[in-house]
Amino acid sequence: MQPLINELALYDIANVNGVAADLSHCNTPVKIKGFTGQESLAGALEGAELVIIPAGIPRKPGMTRDDLFKTNASIVKALVEGVAKTCPGAILNIISNPVNSTVPIAAEVLKAAGVYDPKKVLGVTTLDVVRANCFVAETKGLDVKDVDVPVIGGHAGTTILPLLSQTKPKVNWSDAELPALIERIQNAGTEVVEAKAGAGSATLSMAYAAARMAESVLRGLAGEDGVYECAYVESDVTELPFFASKVRLGPSGAEEILGVGKITDAEQKALDEAIPILRGNIDAGINFAKGN
Ligand code: LMR
Repeated sequence: MQPLINELALYDIANVNGVAADLSHCNTPVKIKGFTGQESLAGALEGAELVIIPAGIPRKPGMTRDDLFKTNASIVKALVEGVAKTCPGAILNIISNPVNSTVPIAAEVLKAAGVYDPKKVLGVTTLDVVRANCFVAETKGLDVKDVDVPVIGGHAGTTILPLLSQTKPKVNWSDAELPALIERIQNAGTEVVEAKAGAGSATLSMAYAAARMAESVLRGLAGEDGVYECAYVESDVTELPFFASKVRLGPSGAEEILGVGKITDAEQKALDEAIPILRGNIDAGINFAKGN
């Protein structure tokens, strides 16, 4: 349905041909191809301009995103090695958890292959923005299409930092409202994991958010001006090497990384507390990719 897509290549280690056949019957101009098994990865990546990586296992109740590291780190590493070989100029949208660590893994893999461009490696945090917009609209009785809440930091627990003081349109918050709303946004993934009771994590809202992010990347690639999304990228906004904040998307990817802007003392405190957690997540990813 996305007019900016000409060809969609689907890749998985199993069960992809049925999905490709199913999708290919939609009467849109997009050409759909399915690729099954590791030996077909290069075929799937050939000529790709945007590679979206949602691969890996999901959480079960009681697990944190970090509990997925052992399995998903290797999956992301192998896929990004494929990207480095076959489509090194592609923009990556990384969804596989723990995003706080899989993005640094991807960066290290591309660096080792000599093809790293920090503008092109984006961790997808759009679902945090989608959720923040949804919950703020519900709480304040606003039309959700008008609501925009930047979410910075990372994509796990207290590293998810919704900047409610920067909500558009401007809203007034009572001290009583904020803690519960922030906690709901930070725990929204867990809310879905618990509701699914062992059958995985968010897929539909994640797909919706990933589609929004992909569309924004493609609009940037197509040369459209003024396309902004929050994303987890290599950054000098804080002392950390990776951080999520608003980025301006253009023909070469995340062309400008915006700072955090004016934030409240409480938001600054939450940011200060998130930094060591994010640093641990980043170091874990870098050490894994370097084989330490
Ligand atoms: C989400 O935020 O829903 C995803 O990161 C999946 C998860 O494990 O929560």
